[in-house]
Amino acid sequence: MGILTLDNFDVKGKTVLLRVDMNCPIHPDTGKILGTKRIEEVVETINALDGAKIVVISHQGRVGRDDFVGMEEHAKQLEKFSNKKVRYVADVIGSLAQDEIKKMNDGEIILLDNLRLCAEENYEFSLEESARTIMVQRLKDLFDLFILDSFPSAHRTHPSLVGFAQVLPTCAGRLLEKEVKQLENILTVAKSPFTVVLGGSKVDDRLKAIKLLIKKERADHVLLTGVIANVFLRAQGRIKFPLNIKDEDEMVASAHALIGEHPDVFSTPVDIAVN
Ligand code: 3PG
Repeated sequence: MGILTLDNFDVKGKTVLLRVDMNCPIHPDTGKILGTKRIEEVVETINALDGAKIVVISHQGRVGRDDFVGMEEHAKQLEKFSNKKVRYVADVIGSLAQDEIKKMNDGEIILLDNLRLCAEENYEFSLEESARTIMVQRLKDLFDLFILDSFPSAHRTHPSLVGFAQVLPTCAGRLLEKEVKQLENILTVAKSPFTVVLGGSKVDDRLKAIKLLIKKERADHVLLTGVIANVFLRAQGRIKFPLNIKDEDEMVASAHALIGEHPDVFSTPVDIAVN
């Protein structure tokens, strides 16, 4: 597959840094986790790391938004789904986190706090810059192996995603391995015409993805759902009320231009319910 996986390493007795994506939907009033799918998905890789000291790291939400919360509840949920003790450490790169990592025994799991509490994790860096960040420099010597298993955020160049790979032996976790295999399958085996089913609420990212997929001839037909579908419905004039999303006019204009350039590509929902 061209990437190293857990099959290439013996992790027994090693201290491993496991970057996952447990970015979950969060209730805006209570701050509680609304869906645990991404936490459940981490379990397969945890199970493959038997005998290692596992330090799990993840971001949650974006600074300043309702979904930006700490990782204490994530640790409880991970403990429940993995059926293994998971200790939450309310620190990311400070002496508390460092001391707790140094004290670990084989088979122990800790979850550090929300990576985005660390200012650097909110910026994109070049690979060289990311290796020089304080986050990477403070933590790197505590680990034998870095495991990237954070597929949903692997397109970001934040220090936790690309920095450790510059300075530590690195491999893909089970989830990332699976996703890369699927993508390779699409790129090498699947034949056009391609139908892409696309939803989600991060409209700006979705618009970029759609443009690229069309340009690379990977999307002959795009079926839209979720908030991105609403943006196209507005662009088509089929819904008139505001969607209350960031940069709405710009997003609707962009969708309008895409429909104009590629009139036969997009399908929007035939009906909607408004709550
Ligand atoms: C996601 O949920 O899409 C990923 O965790 C990335 O989150 P971000 O768009 O806030 O970087």
